[in-house]
Amino acid sequence: MFEKICWVVTGAGHFLGETAGILASLRGVRVDMYFTRAGAEVAAKYGLFKNLEACAEHAFRENDYSAGSAIYFAGGRYDALVIAPATANTVAKCALGVADSLASNFFAQAGKSEVPAIILPTDAKTEIESATISGRKIKVRPRPVDLQRTEELSRFPGVTVVYSPEELRGVLDSA
Ligand SMILES: Cc1cc2nc3c(=O)[nH]c(=O)nc-3n(C[C@H](O)[C@H](O)[C@H](O)COP(=O)(O)O)c2cc1C
Repeated sequence: MFEKICWVVTGAGHFLGETAGILASLRGVRVDMYFTRAGAEVAAKYGLFKNLEACAEHAFRENDYSAGSAIYFAGGRYDALVIAPATANTVAKCALGVADSLASNFFAQAGKSEVPAIILPTDAKTEIESATISGRKIKVRPRPVDLQRTEELSRFPGVTVVYSPEELRGVLDSA
């Protein structure tokens, strides 16, 4: 069982409600939550920012360019990094080794400190059904480049890519 998790919420509407549900049901694990800039914006648009924040022991918003808190991975503060939901933008950066945002820096530093990472990408299937902020159902068709980056990420050592909120819950429960 993980004792302390670093959980990054990126700017995705897809899987956001399910992510809030998983976080609310977690027991016996301490969570530090970090919102990317887009993550805070999108969570607020869906009316979920406060719900998500309330699930964490501490909650932080991206507020610097150098992601200073990434140093905590080397210091052994976290047993795992969870990025859920993970936007196509963040997945692409992580897969390419770019580290220029909170989420991509945390991913890079977790990897360099051998802290396991669990990622729930929004863009993992050729077609997904998502809901707009007004609750309207829409179809989104990720591009080949989005699917390719997700696939590349799944081959990183120490990284578990999960393809549904249920799978994420299972990985957390069995850790
Ligand atoms: C309401 C709303 C919902 C969004 N949902 C998604 C999504 O489900 N998946 C995705 O890849 N991007 C989504 N985006 C776009 C991202 O927020 C945008 O690419 C942002 O730059 C990602 O930054 P981040 O990866 O640092 O969080 C959404 C944007 C808005 C405004």
